Amino acid sequence: MSTAAPQELVLTRPDDWHVHLRDEAALQSVVAHTAHQFARAIVMPNLRPPITTAAQAAAYRARILAALPEGSDFQPLMTLYLTDNTPVDEIKRAKDAGVVALKLYPAGATTNSDAGVTDIKKTYRTLEAMQREGLLLLVHGEVTDPAIDVFDREAVFVDQVMTPLRADMPELKVVFEHITTKEAAQYVAGADAYTAATLTPQHLLYNRNAIFTGGLRPHYYCLPVLKREEHRLALLQAATSGSNKFFLGTDSAPHASVMKENSVCGAGCFTALSALELYAEAFELAGALDKLEAFAAFNGPDFYGLPRNQGRVTLRRESWTLPDSVPFGEARLKPLRGGESIGWKFIP
Ligand code: NCD
Ligand code: ZN
Repeated sequence: MSTAAPQELVLTRPDDWHVHLRDEAALQSVVAHTAHQFARAIVMPNLRPPITTAAQAAAYRARILAALPEGSDFQPLMTLYLTDNTPVDEIKRAKDAGVVALKLYPAGATTNSDAGVTDIKKTYRTLEAMQREGLLLLVHGEVTDPAIDVFDREAVFVDQVMTPLRADMPELKVVFEHITTKEAAQYVAGADAYTAATLTPQHLLYNRNAIFTGGLRPHYYCLPVLKREEHRLALLQAATSGSNKFFLGTDSAPHASVMKENSVCGAGCFTALSALELYAEAFELAGALDKLEAFAAFNGPDFYGLPRNQGRVTLRRESWTLPDSVPFGEARLKPLRGGESIGWKFIP
């Protein structure tokens, strides 16, 4: 527990273990924000069409590097989009190309997931190859059965998919991405060393009331959707518990504001502008600023088997106002909390 409120925190340079950078003009607009705060990031493969081959991942990586500001040493860590038909021999090629993980999207679960997995059993030979080659499986943990209530889909996934998967592939490293419920937090806390989870800033700071305060607020809508307060408290407890199974993954997911403020609002919160500041706010609320460094800079690389970063960054206690919006190709992009203030300032 921290006692006196510190004015400045100096941390090992952090990484973002779950981010959406998009492509083309959108990529050009957002990548600098992530590269400003983070040394590395796990880049999600849900482009249209998705990144399903080692060759596509290598080409996407080159586009990301080309879009970086001059002098940036940001390192994108590439992933493939797992499908029912990902060939077993693609795993070796992926490993050779520097791909670190495959992402499991249950078909239809979220933005650009139509090509996702219809039945995890269909991927078992590929998962076995990943287990052999040491590639991680990153999981969007929601069932897609329309008969299951949206707010229950993660908890049902734990029982229906995660538990059998862990029993069948005990040595596959699995990251339960952007967990949102106490069921998922308890599951990961109680699992063995091959299972970990990422947590987003929005799920640590907000419960589902945020989506409905004074009207429908599309910029608070992401998937998995924000849950009740009891879940937020369980997630905050997990993140600040000191357990090395929980680490930073913003799930920053930019959508043009015209697409968010639309009759059908795309799922995703854009947090890359103030990611570390939002986490600091959450950790301070829990009286656990002393746990932020491991969450942001140690637990992720340790789980992935990658070196920790060398450099340092600073968070200064200083109030600033997030811009209402930033450019997004020809469109505009509204950050979560846009136009509002935040009490920490990131200094690279
Ligand atoms: C993500 C996106 O927009 O690509 N959206 C989201 O709400 N998190 C997809 C995802 O990670 O589920
Ligand atoms: Zn995501």
